Amino acid sequence: MSLKFLLFFLTFSICSYALKFDTISQSSLKFNRKIAGGTKAERNEFLYKCALYITKITEELNFCSGSIISDRFVISAAHCFSNITTGVIFAGVHNLKEEEAPYDYDFEVTDVILHEEYDASTYLNDIALINVTAYPFDFTNSKNFIQKIQIVTELISNDNLVGMIGRIAGWGQTTDENREISNELLYIDAEIIDLYNCKVIFGNKIRSTNLCLKSDDSRSTCQGDSGGGLQVTINGENFIVALVSFGAEDGCEKNYPVVFTFLPPYFKWINSIVNRD
Ligand SMILES: *[C@@H]1O[C@H](CO)[C@@H](O)[C@H](O)[C@H]1NC(C)=O
Ligand SMILES: *[C@@H]1O[C@H](CO)[C@@H](O)[C@H](O)[C@H]1NC(C)=O
Repeated sequence: MSLKFLLFFLTFSICSYALKFDTISQSSLKFNRKIAGGTKAERNEFLYKCALYITKITEELNFCSGSIISDRFVISAAHCFSNITTGVIFAGVHNLKEEEAPYDYDFEVTDVILHEEYDASTYLNDIALINVTAYPFDFTNSKNFIQKIQIVTELISNDNLVGMIGRIAGWGQTTDENREISNELLYIDAEIIDLYNCKVIFGNKIRSTNLCLKSDDSRSTCQGDSGGGLQVTINGENFIVALVSFGAEDGCEKNYPVVFTFLPPYFKWINSIVNRD
């Protein structure tokens, strides 16, 4: 069996191109629910999480997630940035509707570093960095609720993680019918599964550069969660190990696994950019 695939970004049509993003988030978009089957996150639980609003040349708006990995770089999925013109990063925010983000930055297409071998037709190398050097994150003020997260070392293999519980947070849609993102950040805990069991469902789209997360009880990532970092705890330390990439077109509540970009194979690529200057 081989399913149709769906990338996990959420697209909105914006009526007026001239609208500012914060105006859009208050008026044209109806924010309502959460990650499918998720639990409400604590205010200070995912300090590395960013909400990304991305405008495409078609004037549509993509909603995705990112993770802060240094004071100057956010990591996300490459597919979020296809045909982008500009975007906004919100960090330090939990409730997108009710709170003002302690950090917001309007980025340009030139600030986005896509993996050179990202392939939009196969989703291979679905990874990107946003360069915020022009307006770096300040981690010193705890009232800003902003912190970086470390990426798991390149020495970790896919097999090392099978059976572990990963935690994924997002503002993505909460049910298949509800095409709205969530006001509040939600998360689920789910088991990391063997790539073989994922291949049975997604066929040759699954490679050693992927990681798969089990979905059950209709709990899963959904549209709007793309790019989000899968968090695991190893020896008491939190890391992100993978980025939300795609899932089954059938829907988020059908208990199909979710496919991630596995980060260790990209460890050198990330460091070559983040530690360049
Ligand atoms: C990007 O734009 C081109 C030309 O407008 C279009 O053919 C292509 O499908 C778009 N790619 C994506 C991934 O949306
Ligand atoms: C990040 O952006 C700054 C300008 O704000 C630039 O000087 C620097 O070279 C960029 N870094 C990378 C890795 O693109």
